[in-house]
Amino acid sequence: MDRETAFWNKLADKYAQRPIVDEASYQKKLEITRKHLRPGMEVLEIGCGTGSTAIVHAPYVGHIRATDLSTRMVEIAQDKAKAAGIGNVTFDASSVEGLDMPDASFDAVMAHNILHLLEDWERAIADIHRMLKPGGVFVSSTACIRDMMFLFRLIVPVGRALRLFPLVKVFSVAELTGSLEKTGFEIEYEWQPKKNASVFIVCRKR
Ligand SMILES: C[S@@+](CC[C@H](N)C(=O)[O-])C[C@H]1O[C@@H](n2cnc3c(N)ncnc32)[C@H](O)[C@@H]1O
Repeated sequence: MDRETAFWNKLADKYAQRPIVDEASYQKKLEITRKHLRPGMEVLEIGCGTGSTAIVHAPYVGHIRATDLSTRMVEIAQDKAKAAGIGNVTFDASSVEGLDMPDASFDAVMAHNILHLLEDWERAIADIHRMLKPGGVFVSSTACIRDMMFLFRLIVPVGRALRLFPLVKVFSVAELTGSLEKTGFEIEYEWQPKKNASVFIVCRKR
């Protein structure tokens, strides 16, 4: 098992118990996302964690394919979906890098708190663009660490060296939005609930 899978597997049970840091912002993000969902839609979620977001959106779409690197996160997500009586979400343990979906196969893609954890986040954006149908929507929340407090930026490599942190890539909101636009997305909504919080972006494949 690679280092990232082991890190997230070890954290998964604790992650599932953790309360949401900012419940009001989470609810607002769910509400905004829901406005873009329609019955019958095919949705992909990458880095789905323990599945909470996919489970909430499932009743409003046709099917969600929710993926995560961590086998333990996926097991917890499957149990939660079963307990909630949700049958239209398929959870599977696969890395973003290993996703091999046909072109133009999804109406919407969600990526919450994941892009900054990818070695090649710009490649992931390009893959998401490819997998979306024309006019498809991409909804993401991303920690843009280059804009965060200097101290935090300093802590990241130290935490990584001590194996306390997962892989984390450092980029700014401007770099993220620039990459999305360069790839062929039109940004429709951008919201950062507060300083140092993840930036929430809704964009559309041109
Ligand atoms: C910070 S958690 C976010 C989980 C969930 N999206 C949320 O917002 O609560 C990051 C998730 O990304 C997954 N992850 C990390 N690297 C990944 C990769 N390369 N491919 C797929 N999933 C990955 C982890 O296993 C973890 O579940």
